[in-house]
Amino acid sequence: MNSSTGSGGTLDAGVPQGSQPARSMAANLLSIRNLSKHYGDFRAVDNVSLDVRRGELMTFLGPSGSGKTTTLNMVAGFDTPTAGEILIDNQDISRVIPSRRNIGMVFQRYTLFPHMTVAENVGFPLMVRRVAKPQIAERVTRVLKLIRLESFGDRRPSQLSGGQQQRVALARALIYEPRLLLMDEPLGALDKRLREEIQLEIRRIHHQLDVTIIYVTHDQEEALRLSDRIAVFDNGRIAQIGAARELYDQPANAFVGAFLGNSNFLTGKIATANGGRYQVTLKDGSSIEAPARLALAPEQPVSVMFRPEKAILQSVSETSGFTNRVVGRITENVFLGDSATYEVRTASGELVTVKQPFGPSETKTRTMDEEIAVSWPHDCVHIFPIDR
Ligand SMILES: Nc1ncnc2c1ncn2[C@@H]1O[C@H](COP(=O)(O)OP(=O)(O)OP(=O)(O)O)[C@@H](O)[C@H]1O
Ligand SMILES: [Mg+2]
Repeated sequence: MNSSTGSGGTLDAGVPQGSQPARSMAANLLSIRNLSKHYGDFRAVDNVSLDVRRGELMTFLGPSGSGKTTTLNMVAGFDTPTAGEILIDNQDISRVIPSRRNIGMVFQRYTLFPHMTVAENVGFPLMVRRVAKPQIAERVTRVLKLIRLESFGDRRPSQLSGGQQQRVALARALIYEPRLLLMDEPLGALDKRLREEIQLEIRRIHHQLDVTIIYVTHDQEEALRLSDRIAVFDNGRIAQIGAARELYDQPANAFVGAFLGNSNFLTGKIATANGGRYQVTLKDGSSIEAPARLALAPEQPVSVMFRPEKAILQSVSETSGFTNRVVGRITENVFLGDSATYEVRTASGELVTVKQPFGPSETKTRTMDEEIAVSWPHDCVHIFPIDR
């Protein structure tokens, strides 16, 4: 293969990314603009725009069928967009064939060649790029060391565990130093412990190599563990993009609030607004307060969201320092070692979950059916309008 070297874009065999021309060093490596993929009337990806910064690890997080893989496949060139642009280093790549995009890809299913050894598998991308044999051997050794499988080069894939096979797939994607690495649920087939172990490996490798990664998952914990930023997908659209903390503390809508972490949702309506706070009347008649982040009119039906760990349980006779309080009965009580979660049913029949950590002083457990007050501070409340 004698690849013609255009301006940027393609990477000649063995030439590291550092030799790209300086003009291509924009802060954003990848820019997706108004990208859509329609199947007939169905919008698998619906007007998605996002930027991935150079050296960033961004996860695409969302439920099954929300358009994560379709978006990734369009970036890789395996799918053709219905509309929109994909720019890498400010150049439109939509007409560049996949093998010339210089993008590495790791899939959920192990895609190693069974008849080749680990070293041959890892060296394969360099072989097709016609890199000289001694150079291949040297880089294979280096990248096997990176994934801590330096003594496994002579084995066949069938002689490796699932986690080891995925690390080899990762090594094979990294060896030609792609400018962008796409990973589509690469750990989906592994058990929880192995997944967590390899998540740490990926973090380490990401920091060590400074490679730009898009990582697809529907596992929120995995997204929290790995990401610099998370793009939350909902029905082919991006619901919100931001750092994990930002999405957790300031969800843009109820979908993000519900998908990332655990949340309580109570229904109510706006009563009054004053001093930057809303008074909200809940379904059970209690009145609570929330920061007035959105402009909402009185009588507007709203969903009131707060996190289980922001609330405390108290006897009904006790008073807390918190402005917000509902009363109910304990219907569920789960001991989790470091914490307990309680489910409380309010007078309106709605359920509230409270997560109570067992710190040095908190040892109390509550009993089923106990009448109890749930209190929480007003400033951790988010309210989202409900369509009337
Ligand atoms: N070739 C196709 N024809 C019609 N619909 C398709 C096609 N490919 C994908 N879809 C639909 O597009 C939507 C998005 O699919 P996609 O694979 O991107 O979801 P995903 O977010 O990756 O989900 P998962 O977490 O299950 O992998 C789905 O509803 C899917 O059924
Ligand atoms: Mg998918």
